[in-house]
Amino acid sequence: MSSPAFTEVRFLAGQVGETVRLRGWVRNARTSKTRFIELRDGSGFVQCVVGAAEADPESYELAGRLTQEAAITVTGVVQQHPKTGQPELLVKALELIGASTDFPITPKEHGTEFLMENRHLWLRSKRQWAILRIRHTLVKGIRDFFDGDGFTLLDAPILTPSACEGTSTLFGTEYFHEGMAFLSQSGQLYQEPGIAAFGKVYCFGPTFRAEKSKTRRHLTEFWMVEPEVAFAHLDDVMALGERMTKFLLQRVLEGRQEELKILERDTAPLETALNTTFDRMTYTEAVEKLKALGSDIQWGEDFGNDDETILMNATDKPLWVHRFPKAFKAFYMEPDPQDPRLALGADLLAPEGYGEVIGGGERASSLQYLLDQIEHEGLNRADYEWYLDVRKYGSVPHAGFGMGLERAVAWICRLPHVRETIPYPRMMGTLRP
Ligand code: 4AD
Ligand code: MG
Repeated sequence: MSSPAFTEVRFLAGQVGETVRLRGWVRNARTSKTRFIELRDGSGFVQCVVGAAEADPESYELAGRLTQEAAITVTGVVQQHPKTGQPELLVKALELIGASTDFPITPKEHGTEFLMENRHLWLRSKRQWAILRIRHTLVKGIRDFFDGDGFTLLDAPILTPSACEGTSTLFGTEYFHEGMAFLSQSGQLYQEPGIAAFGKVYCFGPTFRAEKSKTRRHLTEFWMVEPEVAFAHLDDVMALGERMTKFLLQRVLEGRQEELKILERDTAPLETALNTTFDRMTYTEAVEKLKALGSDIQWGEDFGNDDETILMNATDKPLWVHRFPKAFKAFYMEPDPQDPRLALGADLLAPEGYGEVIGGGERASSLQYLLDQIEHEGLNRADYEWYLDVRKYGSVPHAGFGMGLERAVAWICRLPHVRETIPYPRMMGTLRP
């Protein structure tokens, strides 16, 4: 009898009654008279039941000595678990492909440091699988959203000559005869010229910040999606960010129920966020509210992580905070025509205590204003001449934002720390594996 072709665990629900072959890794093997193997193949998890009556003797014997993470193939009949209704496999034959001895990550609890050192193996755990599949869905959702909305992808360079978000968090590297190059903190400055060519553009790639802060929200390498829109103002960009966020929530709620269950994520707050109009508040109002909630923040200071947490702890509704003091915002922001102390920036704070996931706003469209800002910030004008050209040849109002992918994953999965939201996190003190 010839063996059937291999199938993937994700297809098993539609193959009840059929004989199939699977290949994958042993997540867990329990042995008693009947032997149980939990198999994972990357597409899902399935219980394989090895009984002496159905399996051939060598396979039955092999099932009794399988260890965690051994690679195997298994042939059997798909049946429905009598209680859960989930597909399981009644095994006829097993084959060992690759043995595994003393896999370091066992079902017992391990410390974070140990897991981080073994990140390459930790990826195999069910929880990490669930998180990174949701990350995948967000990446695909982000692309689908902007592609479907008439945006053109305009990839931004990673090696850059100058700062976008201030000079304090740049990683530098030697660049031939040009001197220092810096790893990009944001693709924004490269998106702005793109609007005059394509109208609506976005970039989506890794960005780098030499953040010395060890917090649950900071990575030194993170992925950011950055749309930029010609003729758009502050309100337009808040509306766009809200539409995108809801599109992504819907994608995850529709397509990743299994993963959300593995993470024991209560989806009610995500449903609330999806079905509500996001709150809006000016920075000045937010400072008043924070004071009332016990923060010692003063007008003119940037929010700390704690302030964002205080503001967002008691709500399931995302919040746009807009119109910040321009003193602590980037040089490129459009000043508020109503109050020149303010910049037309907007941050989206995620609920359930998560805080900023999107930062953006309207860009200064006046050449003279930008020249003054560059001088005021002590930046080198020569580095920005190309950027200033956007204001010389058909300058228009425009606006955009950046969403940090890992912050979004952390919120949607309700994770305590961003280190689990990216396959190989880079943070202060973390460069390996
Ligand atoms: O608020 P930020 O600094 O804004 C910009 O970089 C703009 N140039 C974006 C734009 O308008 N095109 O960063 C945007 C987002 C933050 O809201 C946050 O989600 C994420 O990037 N982010 C980080 N994520 C992880 N680790 C860090 N160290 C991050 N810094 C920013
Ligand atoms: Mg920000």
